[in-house]
Amino acid sequence: MTAQNNDEKAAWLTGPSVRCEIAPESAQATWRLILLGAPGVGKGTQADLLHQKLGACHLSTGDVFRAAARQSECDLSPAMKAATEYMRRGELVPDTTVWEMVRERSGCLRCTGGFILDGFPRTLAQAESLKQLMENERLSLNAVVSYDLPVSAIVERLSGRRTCEQCRSVFHVTDRPPQVEGVCDRCGGKLFQREDDRPESIRVRLEAYDQSTAPLIEFYKKLGLLMSVEASGSPDEICEKTLAGLASR
Ligand code: AP5
Repeated sequence: MTAQNNDEKAAWLTGPSVRCEIAPESAQATWRLILLGAPGVGKGTQADLLHQKLGACHLSTGDVFRAAARQSECDLSPAMKAATEYMRRGELVPDTTVWEMVRERSGCLRCTGGFILDGFPRTLAQAESLKQLMENERLSLNAVVSYDLPVSAIVERLSGRRTCEQCRSVFHVTDRPPQVEGVCDRCGGKLFQREDDRPESIRVRLEAYDQSTAPLIEFYKKLGLLMSVEASGSPDEICEKTLAGLASR
């Protein structure tokens, strides 16, 4: 039996035993996008804005691992428990664990509301698995948006990030401050600093991006899906650039 949950991303965050109660709004087009870019470039912020403009659901693999990390240890499979440790250190979770978790949630990829994938795929093996699954399901991507920003600006964004522990909204202490310090504007939840935003984990995450994820830029360029966007400016400006790029494809 499938349980319902009053969260529009419930099936993604919790897994296939839960059904999203809030159905996707019927949109004129079904958008299926991947957001690429180094940690802290602003993928989550853009995914949230694009969700508001395009209606497609913001699906972050990092959010799934963080939701798992908040559960009691005895509710987690050994693979998920190990995944939360990789995440704390800033290392990539092994492909088999990530793919098992995404495959379980493949209903979210088939959803007529569409999707904006944030943080997945992150290795060539993950990108190949996703391509195969989408071909089997006769689904196609509209575009892969790659956000670019110098490393110094990325480190600045990560060090000042604060996240809501309830609704996962993202703020920045100087660039996107909440109206009341430490409190989420959207739901009143408490804001916290992510464990992997400590300097030693940031360094490991940036290395993992260079080694494992940056090659995806070439992979999607060859497939004719890549759209590069310069990620400087305000979040709204970057979102406008992204929408303009998508409209001109
Ligand atoms: P994940 O959650 O995916 O983290 P990430 O890719 O490292 O990306 P971030 O969430 O850190 O940054 P972002 O680009 O979304 O930036 P944001 O919008 O928050 O993954 C976490 C971990 O999970 C990984 O390290 C790994 O261990 C594991 N994992 C997840 N998926 C995996 C996979 N597929 N394979 C293997 N392992 C996996 O913005 C950052 C800050 O900047 C915020 O404070 C924001 O307010 C601010 N900001 C945003 N835009 C602007 C702007 N335009 N101007 C000024 N400030 C801005």
